[in-house]
Order: sequence, then C-alpha cells, then structure tokens
Amino acid sequence: MTPPATPQPPFIRLDAVTKRWSNGVTVLEGVTLTADRGEFISLIGPSGCGKSTLLRLLAGLSPLSAGAVTLDGMSPEAAREIMSFIFQDATLLPWRTVRSNVELGLELEGKTIASQRRTTASTLLELVGLSDVADLYPRQLSGGMRMRVSIARALATRPKILLMDEPFGALDEMTRDFLNEEVLRLRENDRFTTFFVTHSVAEAVFLSTRILVLQAKPGRIAREIPVPFPFPRTAELRSAPEFLRLVGEVSGALRAVQNPSNTGHP
Ligand SMILES: Nc1ncnc2c1ncn2[C@@H]1O[C@H](COP(=O)(O)OP(=O)(O)OP(=O)(O)O)[C@@H](O)[C@H]1O
Ligand SMILES: [Mg+2]
Repeated sequence: MTPPATPQPPFIRLDAVTKRWSNGVTVLEGVTLTADRGEFISLIGPSGCGKSTLLRLLAGLSPLSAGAVTLDGMSPEAAREIMSFIFQDATLLPWRTVRSNVELGLELEGKTIASQRRTTASTLLELVGLSDVADLYPRQLSGGMRMRVSIARALATRPKILLMDEPFGALDEMTRDFLNEEVLRLRENDRFTTFFVTHSVAEAVFLSTRILVLQAKPGRIAREIPVPFPFPRTAELRSAPEFLRLVGEVSGALRAVQNPSNTGHP
C-alpha cells in the first residue's frame, strides 16, 4: 500500500506581510496569500497602493517590517537566484549588443561558459523574434523591441519566478497586445510563476490565472478574482463575451477601491 502523499507546502507564501517606511507610514498591512507553481498573478490597484513595494519585498530588494515571505521554501534574499525582475523601462546596457544584453544575467550567475551563453541567447532571441537584430545596440531598436530583449534577458537564467512591474505600460496598445501573446507563448515553454503589476484590466484578464485587486492606505488585498479561461489563450479570447464580462467585473472592483462608497456592482 502506498503511503498517503504528504501535502506540499505552497510554492509561494506571504503571511501577514506588513511594510512600514521609516517615516512611520504603513504602505502594506497584513497581506496574506499563497501561490502555486505556474500561476500568473496580476496585481492591480490605485497608484501608490503598494504594488511595486510588494514586488520589491518578494524580490528581497526591501526588508519586511512584519510577517513572512517564503518562495520555494526560501527567504526572498535566498530565492534571488530563482527569480528575474522586469521593470517598465527595459534597463538594457547601451554599450552592449542585444545578444550580449541577453547573456548578461547568465554571465553574472557565473555557471555557464561563453558558448553555452551564446546558444541560450540565440534560442531566446529566436523565440522573441529578434534573431535579426542580435548584433545591434539598444538605441537602434524600438521600445517594443527593447522590451522583448528585456524579457529574453530575464528568461535566460530559466527563473522559476518572474516579477514584472508594468512592463508594457509605456508601449502602444498593439505592441502591448502582441507582447502579451508572446509572454503567454513563453510561459507555455517554461512554466515560470509570475507576479505581474499592471494598470490595464484587459491585460490582467488576458494573462492571469488570478487577479488581486489592492486597495490603498494601507495597501491590502481587497478582492481576489480567479480567471478561469484555459491555456493556451489566443487573441480571439479578447472579444469573447465571457472575457468582456470579466473585464467589467474587475473594472468594477477597481472602481470600488478607488472610491470606497461605490460597491463595484452596477
Ligand atoms: N523608500 C520609500 N520611502 C518612503 N515612502 C515610499 C518609499 N518608496 C515608496 N514609497 C511610498 O509608498 C507608496 C507605495 O508606493 P509604490 O511604488 O509601491 O506604489 P504603486 O502601487 O506601485 O504605484 P504606481 O501604480 O504609481 O506605480 C507610495 O505612497 C510611495 O510614495
Ligand atoms: Mg508601481
């Protein structure tokens, strides 16, 4: 007889996480949540409610004031080697070519030899459709192309956890939609677990397995909205009635936290 399986602890766990700044302001209070491997969780909420702060706590870039965070059994600081962070601006090094920007994370990691890094970079550049510009410099690319380089660079180290802070906020809508589809394609390849900050409700619904709506002052999770659509998701989903209905529901929840007298229901 096989013994009963011991329940696995959640892949990511936040327990009553609180963050207070040195000026005494509490930016996040009592944030509790668990995430399974492979989930895609979007954080949405009013400006200043603490979304970027929460990502920085997960990334071990800022200490907690109270509570606990565990990522794959590790503290945020220890989990850094299984994480990548993508910011709104692509933060590429201007003096390095596209290819050598993609190789950067692997170089810093120090676990690979040059030929391995080259192969990994070539594969990723191919995946994001940038093989033709591998030898150009960031200044020679459009904003959307720079963001694709940034994504390729983040994925080169095969992170188990990907943290993205408004990565597509500065791009036009068509480029954003295209990159959303690309992120989902990359996720099919390599099931990283993602925390994604955005102000776009449609983007959050298109990408996520779950949406967390945050309220401000102090930042807390006000609503948790599962997104039931199966993967792979394609562009057609954006015009499906059930997609539009969910966009409406999330927008209502967002209005409710922006203006608490509004219940979010029509
Ligand atoms: N180092 C710091 N010291 C004091 N206050 C800070 C610090 N960093 C951020 N804040 C404040 O914490 C609050 C939350 O900031 P955060 O950047 O997390 O918001 P956000 O939800 O990401 O907003 P946005 O949608 O505009 O990006 C803001 O009021 C900000 O001014
Ligand atoms: Mg922010």
